[in-house]
Amino acid sequence: MASVVRKAVVPAAGLGTRFLPVTKSLPKEMLPIVDKPSIQYVVEEAARAGLRDVLLITSRGKASLADHFDRAPELEEHLAAAGKSEDLEAIQAIADMAQVHYVRQQEPKGLGHAVGVARGHVGDEPFAVLLGDDIMHERSGVLKGMLAAFERHGGSVVALKTVEPAEISSYGAARVEPVEPGLVRMREVVEKPKPEEAPSDLALMGRYVFTPQIFDAIDRVKPGKGGELQLTDAIGLLLEEQPVYGYVFSWGRYDAGNRLDYLRANIELALERPELRPGLRRILNDLVARDEGV
Ligand code: G1P
Repeated sequence: MASVVRKAVVPAAGLGTRFLPVTKSLPKEMLPIVDKPSIQYVVEEAARAGLRDVLLITSRGKASLADHFDRAPELEEHLAAAGKSEDLEAIQAIADMAQVHYVRQQEPKGLGHAVGVARGHVGDEPFAVLLGDDIMHERSGVLKGMLAAFERHGGSVVALKTVEPAEISSYGAARVEPVEPGLVRMREVVEKPKPEEAPSDLALMGRYVFTPQIFDAIDRVKPGKGGELQLTDAIGLLLEEQPVYGYVFSWGRYDAGNRLDYLRANIELALERPELRPGLRRILNDLVARDEGV
């Protein structure tokens, strides 16, 4: 078994029901944050962490994802002829940053099943999973930290973040024991528990580094929450057989599947762009003043 992680798996097959009506005809992964589709942030994060082999798990109606990571000869010719060299480079970079592969999940049987579909491509290697709803700020360093922890300890690593007790029922929740600063050992995981039944307020956050044994665990998992094959339940089986660690972080994550957090991501990331910052600050200040009746 190779010990260096080279591959990233990005499940992108969901129906996007949390974001209707736009997701009726547009894949949720193509919803922009400022001017970039959210899936591009995720593939950039993988590439930045050195994972240049990216497998997108797609489904019907997601052809625009493949177009986005492909070359666009007509557009490129047009930009070249118009002398827009910066735009041209940015467009070409999208197609060059990673080797993007695709496989379809033919039925919506859950996240565990979606990751299982990657088995043929991943083979007997460790790999990372990045969920597209969780967008990480480029300075967050979570995935890099998880890969470093994987290399140090050799066991699977999942990202964990403390959430408000009332929010835990939207996530997988973990019972853990301390290992070293920022790293814990996972002892139990529960998918979307009621707050009063949650083992802690530490939530699984959509970044995982797995040993290939996760595939055997997925094969053994029974339908769980919502009748779906849950990745969290497979992690629960895996941690009974080999160490699974939790990488605890606190900053830099946006939930692009939640309307309010999606708006926060747009505003915060736009404020970081020098060409947008002054104008957006003016708009926000005006809005706040108006809202307060100043
Ligand atoms: C999935 C996982 C859940 C995890 C969450 C992170 O849930 O099943 O364990 O905490 O992603 O965003 P989903 O948000 O797809 O329902």
